[in-house]
Amino acid sequence: MLPQIFSAPMADVTNPACRALFEMHGADFTFTEMINSDGLLYGDSFANDAGFSITKKPYGIQISGNNSKSISKAAEILEDMFSPSVIDINMGCPSPRIMRSGCGASLMNDEKLASQIISDVCSVLKTPVSAKIRIFENSEKTVSFAKSLECAGISSLAVHGRTREMFYSGTCNTKQIREIVSSLSIPVIANGNVFDGLGALSLINETGTSNIMIGRATIGNPFIFFKMKRFFKTAEKLGIDWQNIGPEEFKENINSKRSTEKTGNLEQFSELKQINSTIFKNVLDQTEIEQRISDFKLYCKLIEKNNLYSRINIKAHAQWFTKGFPDSCKLRLQINDLHKNIKVPLNDIDALVEDRIILSKKIIEILDERYL
Ligand SMILES: Cc1cc2nc3c(=O)[nH]c(=O)nc-3n(C[C@H](O)[C@H](O)[C@H](O)COP(=O)(O)O)c2cc1C
Repeated sequence: MLPQIFSAPMADVTNPACRALFEMHGADFTFTEMINSDGLLYGDSFANDAGFSITKKPYGIQISGNNSKSISKAAEILEDMFSPSVIDINMGCPSPRIMRSGCGASLMNDEKLASQIISDVCSVLKTPVSAKIRIFENSEKTVSFAKSLECAGISSLAVHGRTREMFYSGTCNTKQIREIVSSLSIPVIANGNVFDGLGALSLINETGTSNIMIGRATIGNPFIFFKMKRFFKTAEKLGIDWQNIGPEEFKENINSKRSTEKTGNLEQFSELKQINSTIFKNVLDQTEIEQRISDFKLYCKLIEKNNLYSRINIKAHAQWFTKGFPDSCKLRLQINDLHKNIKVPLNDIDALVEDRIILSKKIIEILDERYL
């Protein structure tokens, strides 16, 4: 069976338009940005923008909060408004601002409180509840925490294999994720440091779960889901036992298959070409540049159509989509210079939206002129 590929929840990134693109390119399941429970209860309109979905496949809404009462209430409201497939509780965000308010990874300081939140949320919802955690230094402590959430009622658990002190650097501790996978009976989703097909293969191989979640590698790069899927589909077609081998053995397998290129098996030859380009290519070629530009255009259309411009800084998003383009420094400056001296008051939403629509059109003109 092919791996299930989840897109990670990412604040300021995984808005509905972004998730729709991820899904279009093959993501099996997407998560919203985190929605703060108190913010929602005090009328912050962000929840309306973040929680709804234009995806067709299942998706999860993530909530951050610091107490059972407000998280449960927010969960009920979000369930009623959007009927997501899962409501996820954020227990992994290490940002000092979030931690100071007792949300995110600070919930991992108190196993009892974390479990209470899960059982209270489960008791008020019809929707399955999941959680996303980080790890502790000590693997027994991590497994105990994960088990307590399972006992409290979560139906799946995403584990980012880093401690909160590590933020996003250092290696992902796949050994700890493996221990959680073998100690729990619910599905575990492994997360951390996947940037390509081989990285995904390593994570699956080392953790023992074929549910993987990808974060940073997807930013401005929705096509990565297509490439990941193609990687595994091609491996299956070539008869490579990818579930049971590591990346080195996988590469050896590919190399040995290369000799069959010469035998004239054209179908297999084209499969090999595809998989090789996925493994061995780091630079963006013209085809991929065109793909990114076409994705950016579609992204802008989806943002406009779904009235999301008021809270999307389109210049920043354009920089993400064009990362790695030839001459990207000059392009960066060119985009930054657009509307530099136009000051739109942030509270004039209509003017702000109008300005961002014009900006996105100008960015697209620049991209067409420079790269197509
Ligand atoms: C810009 C950004 C925003 C993030 N926001 C969230 C969030 O809202 N909720 C959450 O659980 N994790 C959040 N994360 C963590 C990711 O979901 C993921 O766990 C982390 O990036 C590790 O995966 P990766 O190595 O594939 O990037 C965020 C990460 C980044 C880079």
